[in-house]
Amino acid sequence: TGLSALDQGFVNTASTKSAITYIDGDAGILRYRGYAIEDLARNSTYLETAWLLIYGELPTQSELAEFEDKIRRHTLLHEDLKTFFSALPHTAHPMSVLSSAVSALSTYYEDSLDPHNPEMVEMNTVRLLAKLPVIAAYAHKKSLGQAFLYPDNSLSFVENFLKLNFGNMAEPYEINPVLVNALERLLILHEDHEQNASTSTVRLVGSTEANMFASISAGINALYGPLHGGANEAVLTMLQQIHDSGESVQKFVERVKNKEDGVKLMGFGHRVYKNFDPRAKLVKESADEVLADLGVKDPLLDIAKELEEAALADEYFIQRKLYPNVDFYTGVIYKAMGFPARTFTVLFAIGRLPGWIAHWREAATDPATKIGRPQQLYVGPAARAWPSGR
Ligand code: CMC
Repeated sequence: TGLSALDQGFVNTASTKSAITYIDGDAGILRYRGYAIEDLARNSTYLETAWLLIYGELPTQSELAEFEDKIRRHTLLHEDLKTFFSALPHTAHPMSVLSSAVSALSTYYEDSLDPHNPEMVEMNTVRLLAKLPVIAAYAHKKSLGQAFLYPDNSLSFVENFLKLNFGNMAEPYEINPVLVNALERLLILHEDHEQNASTSTVRLVGSTEANMFASISAGINALYGPLHGGANEAVLTMLQQIHDSGESVQKFVERVKNKEDGVKLMGFGHRVYKNFDPRAKLVKESADEVLADLGVKDPLLDIAKELEEAALADEYFIQRKLYPNVDFYTGVIYKAMGFPARTFTVLFAIGRLPGWIAHWREAATDPATKIGRPQQLYVGPAARAWPSGR
């Protein structure tokens, strides 16, 4: 039926044109709108980079100030939505809470969901950027049985997020600039990565003209899996298991190579990067900075470094071009900051949100966009006669 090729996992064919992010996987290059990830990570902020991704240019100072202010004024959740959290068990995985809450968020804005209305799209962009971190912090607080805090408009975006997670009603929250800078950097590194599984999901759902909340909620669910965003949690679980079992790093690496029980070296390998992941280098720098500042001596960091060294020297990993990816060291940093492992992928989601929005908007305004509808290669039975008498 006109089908020309099978491309399992979309390894060879492009699903779209895009002007947002450029990756050269062999050279380890990542650029947002032409700017090197290294420059952005060292000099920009989460919201400035979000503006760049969404609107295509760096903002002027006044544009940025206005954007920050708008986001600050939209952080509050409808009080009714706060009760949504009480319907869920305190053991709920924060990624499930996040995607459900984002889906539910749209019910408060039913008169402004039209994907063809630029003002509504603008409004929902601000709403999502402002409210996702608050939802994430509430999911964390809920798991601890602690009271939700209200956002504090005297703080920056990242400062506010840290306070919402780690502050409490009884005492003032002290901002640590080293943590703020590290979190800004980690979020910037996650902001976009062209047509990865979750972004492709957002574009596919958006191609049906579903609203932005529905599309982003689907993206969050795609990110949840351990082969994608869920890898940061899976890395920490792996490091903890190696630590607790007393198994040597070398023995663990042998089990990975023998593909015993399908065990993988989580945080290693990438569909696109085949020499190194430029984000991983920047994350590793931050890991050393944050742990030194907090005076944390985490044996899991030592295990991670040992694992990296062992894998990089091993023929199995060399042959397959497997290197540490962005998720390898992030968990160690998040843990030192005080985040429980189950919230790690939520941090990835906050990071990726501007990229999802940029792609959703790019697709929604591109006249060439068509509803996504992959083909298949049918391998089932040929036509069969209905059994007589049945
Ligand atoms: N540990 C052990 N072996 C691996 C790993 C790993 N982490 N990754 C790939 N391989 C092997 C794989 O078994 C295969 O071996 P063989 O040729 O003998 O069958 C070979 O390397 C090629 O791998 P692939 O699965 O065909 O590669 P892919 O491009 O389909 O998968 C990946 C990419 C990221 C899903 C995979 O490398 C992986 O599962 N890594 C661990 C999970 C992870 O860290 N994910 C985060 C990715 S970066 C952040 C993000 O985008 O979310």
